[in-house]
Amino acid sequence: MLAVPLLLGAGAWTAVRVTEGRLDRHYEATLVVPPVRAEDAARGMYLMTLAKCGVCHGADFGGGTLMDEPLLGSIHGPNLTTGAGGIGGARTDADLTRAIRHGLAPDGRPLIAMPTREHAAFSNGELGAVIAALRALPPVDRSSPPSRVGLGLAVFCALDQIELIGAELVDHAAAPPAEVPPGPTVVWGGHLARIGSCHDCHGEHLSGGAMAGAPPDWPDASNLTPHVTGLAGWTEEEFYRALREGVRPDGTAIDPRMPWAYTAKMTDDDLRAIYLYLLTVPARPSGQG
Ligand code: HEC
Ligand code: HEC
Repeated sequence: MLAVPLLLGAGAWTAVRVTEGRLDRHYEATLVVPPVRAEDAARGMYLMTLAKCGVCHGADFGGGTLMDEPLLGSIHGPNLTTGAGGIGGARTDADLTRAIRHGLAPDGRPLIAMPTREHAAFSNGELGAVIAALRALPPVDRSSPPSRVGLGLAVFCALDQIELIGAELVDHAAAPPAEVPPGPTVVWGGHLARIGSCHDCHGEHLSGGAMAGAPPDWPDASNLTPHVTGLAGWTEEEFYRALREGVRPDGTAIDPRMPWAYTAKMTDDDLRAIYLYLLTVPARPSGQG
């Protein structure tokens, strides 16, 4: 009778050790620090809206909480401003490049939960603009507790069910990606979907389904592919309404776990670019990644 709990206990213990070992690693990154110009701050702030930094770092970037669950763990995005408790004043442009593009702390340890694969898609010009926006943030005095990998997150991470350690997913020696020209095009839409982390919740193939590691009260992510269980049949206007007002074509409200308050701030051209991009994604039934 004791065998099952003992086995489960041993499995969980192993998972925690595996995840701790992965978090203890140190990475060397080839840093290409972009030029940072104050006049790019507004562009950088728009990119930070697209990338939804505020979901974890707080709407005022003074620190926030994505989740705080006893069994799963807690994810607190630190205060990015120069206020008391903020890291803004203490980090060089190289430190911020290392954190955002590589998902690494100044000492080379991987940052927990930073969407590094998404941020690695920023061109050098875009990253420079994001750093300019961080430099221009009004100071906020607030401290957040450190993030904690609980049993649940450790198990999901050890089983590679969640992307908790973004630093593992990018090539730290790669040159920054080339600039993608903005406009209502499929290519720009694909770039926006990546930095907007649509794949992060809706799956690498965008067909939605349960999000591993999400707290139990979160709904499944919807299918965004042009399949009948996805967005097939949605008009462009219906798509805009969903991302701007959080309402589906049948009038039902979209759960705020879908960060439509952020997509609501996208320009018309950028929403159109994402719409055009989603039309080109292969159709798949819901829940297939
Ligand atoms: C899904 C949640 C999440 C999102 C979205 C997110 N971050 Fe983070 N970020 C974190 C967490 C959690 C940490 C701290 C991790 C740790 O200490 O291991 C962090 C750390 C950082 C750090 C390093 C802080 C330091 O001590 O040097 C910077 C800089 C940063 N984030 C900037 C950003 C920017 C800019 C964006 C948007 C482009 C962003 N983050 C989006 C969760 C997030
Ligand atoms: C933090 C996770 C998360 C991110 C990031 C995210 N979504 Fe969602 N999205 C969801 C969830 C969860 C739902 C389902 C909400 C519900 O059931 O009410 C959803 C629903 C939707 C819907 C409604 C479709 C339907 O039939 O219900 C659309 C459209 C959508 N997302 C598009 C996007 C796009 C485009 C992006 C990237 C710019 C994106 N989402 C990023 C979690 C996310």
